[in-house]
Amino acid sequence: SRPFVYQKRRLVCGEVDLTQLAEEYGTPLYVYSADQILYRLGLFQEAFWGRPSTICYAVKANSSIAILRLLGEAGAGFDIVSGGELERVRKAHKPALKRVVFSGVGKQVEEIDVALKAGILMFNVESEAELGLLAARAEALGKTARFALRVNPDVFAETHPYISTGLSAHKFGIAITEARRIYKKTLKSKWLDAVGVSVHIGSQIRSVEPFQAALERVLALVAELRKDGHDIQYVDAGGGLGIDYGTGSFDAAAQVAKYAKALEKALADEPAHLLLEPGRFLVAQAGALLTKVLVVKKNGDKTFVITDAGMNDLIRPSLYQAHHEIVPVRQPSASAATAPVDIVGPVCESGDFFARDRKLAKVKESDLVAILDAGAYGMTLSSNYNTRMRPAEILVEGPEARLIRRRETMRDLLAPEL
Ligand code: LLP
Repeated sequence: SRPFVYQKRRLVCGEVDLTQLAEEYGTPLYVYSADQILYRLGLFQEAFWGRPSTICYAVKANSSIAILRLLGEAGAGFDIVSGGELERVRKAHKPALKRVVFSGVGKQVEEIDVALKAGILMFNVESEAELGLLAARAEALGKTARFALRVNPDVFAETHPYISTGLSAHKFGIAITEARRIYKKTLKSKWLDAVGVSVHIGSQIRSVEPFQAALERVLALVAELRKDGHDIQYVDAGGGLGIDYGTGSFDAAAQVAKYAKALEKALADEPAHLLLEPGRFLVAQAGALLTKVLVVKKNGDKTFVITDAGMNDLIRPSLYQAHHEIVPVRQPSASAATAPVDIVGPVCESGDFFARDRKLAKVKESDLVAILDAGAYGMTLSSNYNTRMRPAEILVEGPEARLIRRRETMRDLLAPEL
């Protein structure tokens, strides 16, 4: 069921009243449901129960240490893209380091070294040059580097152009047609161990066919690699399963089942250990951004609702024209009139909006509204633009609400300046 619902006319998360949270911790405030996150991880784990598999949560979606700990303790692995994310995993749940895959097109020497020393599961290598660097660092440290090539399957996935990655026109991965040759070069290497093949075609993908098509291409490659003498033990199918940002369906179980069915069709009797890298699907709908109305003003015939959250707190609408549902925290009566308004932040940019011409029940100064489905790529994409302090974060676990990150202070912001 949905993590944010009305109870006695007030929006709650589990058993926790959002109005009270706002009073206690101030706004803007990110609120996450631990139950929802664990439920979704469980759906993934169960969907692939029949085969060896690990869900490597994509840390970039929401990298709060408390959330990483929750997932790590529940058996998740992690997909990281920087040394910084590796340190977060280490802090959150050390045993999960051996379930880490390291993706990204521009890995640096220091990051590779830390990951080699930490004994991560494997590197998802995105270029021939990176493979050379990985071999050199492994030799320098006297370690064997387990790797997969992230192949670019040239599959089109319908999504926003900024988050589509699986076409040869994108910077990601190695053309699948080149992969076999590059793998071959590592057969005799003492420092490189080709243990897998990985693929990731993009994010917020709403149909499952592209995932299946990409995986089929990957498995054809795996068969060739085995013929060449590689011991391929892992197939990493990436992340990217989309969610419904509208008011529509919320049937996470059905969505995962459909996704799993498509992947299973491609996998058939493939014996390799399956890795998946979902980010958004696990955390997006588990989170909301709670914000207070500062001003309601009219300019000409437009009404602007100005909130204390801005594009620096949640940039998805500005950056991708993403749709987020926005609801008043005090439930409007069923007969309450709605009028189209622009819900905008206080930042000095016309692009600082959460919704345009959105029908919203009448709100006034000091009312609270919740921007829904903000658990993924919300806080992680936030900034201090306009010298604004970033929000605090709350994790709701059953009846408990726990502050997992305090609000930034002016002192935090000024600290690095000389
Ligand atoms: N694996 C790799 C290699 C990735 O690059 C990504 C996301 C994921 C997994 C997780 O994808 P997900 O399951 O979350 O779709 N900021 C954008 C999304 C950027 C996604 C980047 N890569 C947004 O807010 O929509």
